[in-house]
Amino acid sequence: MIKDEISKLRKEVENCKKCPLYKTRNKVVFGNGSLNAKIFLVGEGPGFDEDRTGVAFVGRSGKLLDKILEACGFTREKHVFIGNIVKCRPPQNRIPTIDEQSSCLPFLEKQVELLNPDIIVTLGATAYKGLFDSNAKITRERGNWKIRNNRLVMPTYHPSALLRNPALKKDSWEDFKKVILKYRELVDPEHFCKYI
Ligand code: URA
Repeated sequence: MIKDEISKLRKEVENCKKCPLYKTRNKVVFGNGSLNAKIFLVGEGPGFDEDRTGVAFVGRSGKLLDKILEACGFTREKHVFIGNIVKCRPPQNRIPTIDEQSSCLPFLEKQVELLNPDIIVTLGATAYKGLFDSNAKITRERGNWKIRNNRLVMPTYHPSALLRNPALKKDSWEDFKKVILKYRELVDPEHFCKYI
């Protein structure tokens, strides 16, 4: 049962001391959403609010992410699971180091294997670089379907980038429109989105 496997993995992540981030974390942010999700969103790592609550994307970026998902006709409860490259908050919200990322990556890989999503969406440069190429440029890669371990991946901007630079929202929406169309193609031809 996926529920049991996920609970087992959650316990393992909650007890993890593989990298120094465990020393400063308040709560481990395992990831949240539907265990039947066909879309897996990958963020960078917990921020202040996530570290306090243990829930992914609940701060300002999370609120914007919720709006984007709503515009797509997706909900956290039904359509998506949200996980991060690292499960513990890097102090001062710095980018997780390569060592921290590689200690944590097996957990994300396991989550993806268990959920078996049809579509992965990487949010921001750290998520994309963590899964593909540490030298990649998100401005170049975003909006183009990629394949990783036989799975489709759509790289797009992190919601915090959209908060800093609202001019990027147009491109972000183009990327999410591709996700909606792919979802209709692979998962549910009847998927309703009021915009497309
Ligand atoms: N930013 C992320 O990348 N992940 C979160 O969970 C919250 C903010």
